[in-house]
Amino acid sequence: MGQHIAADLTKPDTLPALIENISSLTDHVNALILNAGIGLYEGWETMDLNELRTLMELNFFAPVEMAKLLLPALKTTGGTVITVSSAAGFLPVPYMGAYCASKNALNAFSDTFRAELADSGIHLLNVLPGRINTGFSSRALGAMTPPETPFAGSAEKLARATFHAFLRKKRQLVYPGWYRILSLLRHVFPGYYDNLMKKNWKI
Ligand SMILES: NC(=O)c1ccc[n+]([C@@H]2O[C@H](COP(=O)([O-])OP(=O)(O)OC[C@H]3O[C@@H](n4cnc5c(N)ncnc54)[C@H](OP(=O)(O)O)[C@@H]3O)[C@@H](O)[C@H]2O)c1
Repeated sequence: MGQHIAADLTKPDTLPALIENISSLTDHVNALILNAGIGLYEGWETMDLNELRTLMELNFFAPVEMAKLLLPALKTTGGTVITVSSAAGFLPVPYMGAYCASKNALNAFSDTFRAELADSGIHLLNVLPGRINTGFSSRALGAMTPPETPFAGSAEKLARATFHAFLRKKRQLVYPGWYRILSLLRHVFPGYYDNLMKKNWKI
């Protein structure tokens, strides 16, 4: 039967005890899914740096520390670390710069740690979703409200795609795949891309 332990991952001091709790429940960790995250909708000029620190704590430092603390257990099983990043980690969006930065940092963590652990049996899968229908935006920090999108994907389909990517030991999952086309557009027409993203906000 599943069990859960509640923890505030923005408080680094609590993480070692959290890992101890997990270790007391099981010595067999097949997969560590680093999913917790929060958004921040605000321009850099008006951003509250305390909110930025909270965001980085949850979206970047907590996953890094959790993966480090559970590494010995993952080494014994040849387990997988799944980071839930975002398409915003490779597609910069104005007024979401802090969130983009946190997910960009998470991408760099996953891609470099995977290479460092190549001979350890541990695998790292980085999941990069586009907008998904979970109510995520309504819980975000910052004073701005993001534009509506008709393209929000389904959390169930993303979970299924993530499971398949896990079974196939993929390094990366961009979901839905057409976000890669936006990335191409940005590289070929950077000015057009910036205007398009800013226009979305209608401000
Ligand atoms: N929805 C999207 O459009 C979208 C797109 C790209 C990437 N993502 C990423 O997907 C992941 C999941 O987001 P979601 O869409 O499912 O949003 P969500 O419904 O708001 O879920 C956020 C998750 O983070 C946890 N969390 C928030 N603050 C926490 C804290 N201080 N300590 C511990 N856990 C905390 C929440 O736990 P509780 O429920 O217990 O509060 C919840 O499980 C995030 O990393 C997000 O950046 C989402």
